[in-house]
Amino acid sequence: MDFTVETATDAVVDSFRQTKDRRLREVMESLTRHLHAFVRDIEPTMEEWEAAIGFLTAVGQTCDHTRQEFILLSDVLGVSMLVETMNGTMNGTETGTESTVLGPFHMTESPRRELGDSIDLLGTGRPCVVSGQVLAADGTPLPGAELDVWQCNEDGFYDVQQPDVQPPGNGRGLFRTDVEGRFWFRTVVPSHYPIPTDGPVGRLLDATGRHPYRPAHIHFIASADSHRPVTTHAFVDDSPYIDSDAVFAVKQGLITDFTESYDEQGAERFGVTVPFTHARFDIVLAPEPETT
Ligand code: BEZ
Ligand code: FE
Repeated sequence: MDFTVETATDAVVDSFRQTKDRRLREVMESLTRHLHAFVRDIEPTMEEWEAAIGFLTAVGQTCDHTRQEFILLSDVLGVSMLVETMNGTMNGTETGTESTVLGPFHMTESPRRELGDSIDLLGTGRPCVVSGQVLAADGTPLPGAELDVWQCNEDGFYDVQQPDVQPPGNGRGLFRTDVEGRFWFRTVVPSHYPIPTDGPVGRLLDATGRHPYRPAHIHFIASADSHRPVTTHAFVDDSPYIDSDAVFAVKQGLITDFTESYDEQGAERFGVTVPFTHARFDIVLAPEPETT
C-alpha cells in the first residue's frame, strides 16, 4: 500500500506490531498516533519542520554534566509536573505531603549537618529558621527520618551557579529528625529566581511572551523506613510569581507562612537574634505500597 496522508498512521503503527516488549509497543503506537495527529493539526511547512528539528538539536547540544535542557523543556511544558503529579502521593486516596518537581539543582550531594546548624555558610543574610516534624499519615512522628534540603540564596542563585561567590554546599544540608520526628535549621529566606534562560528553552519562553521566574522555595526530599519518600518544596507565601510559576510546580498545600518573629526566647533557642523569619513546614509521608 502507498504511504499517503490517509494511510501513514496505520502503516507506522503496524511497523511496531512485532515489538516483543508489550509496554514498548503500547508506547510506540500511542506516540505515533498522537504525533501524527499533532502534525495533521498544525500542517507544518518544510521550513517549520526544519526549525523544529533545529530547536530539538539545540536542546540536546545545550546539555552537559551540569545542564539538562531537555528536563527544562519538560518543565516549562508542564510535563514534569504532570508525570510527578500522576505518580505522587496525592494522586488517589493516599494522604501525604504533595510532591513537586525535583529541578536541576539537586546535582551535588548535600553535606550532613546537625539539627540547628545553619545552611547559610556566608552568614550575611537575614536569619530564617525552618522547623517542622516528619509524620506518618496517622500523625505518628517519624524519628530518624532523613531530610535533604537545598535552596538558593537571597539573590536567587544556587551554590553551583556561583562557584566564585558561594562555597560548595551553601544552602544545602542533610538532616536526620530527632526522637520526636522534629527538625530545625537556620538559613536565609530564598529569593524567587529565573530558570536558566541562555539556551533554547529561554528563547522559547521569550518568543511566547512567557516569564522565566519561579517563586521562592526551599527544596526537600524526605524519606523514612517503610514510607514513600517525597520530593517537595516549601513555597514562600508572599513570593512574587506564586501564582505563575514558570514550571507549574506550586500546590496550594505547599505554600508556607514565612513569619517575622520577635520572640526573644524562640530566637535564643534557635541561635538567632530578633527579628528573624520563622517557617514551620511539617511533612507527612504516605506508607510504602505493599508489594505482592
Ligand atoms: C528548581 O526549583 O530548582 C527548578 C525547577 C525546574 C526548573 C528549573 C529550576
Ligand atoms: Fe529551586
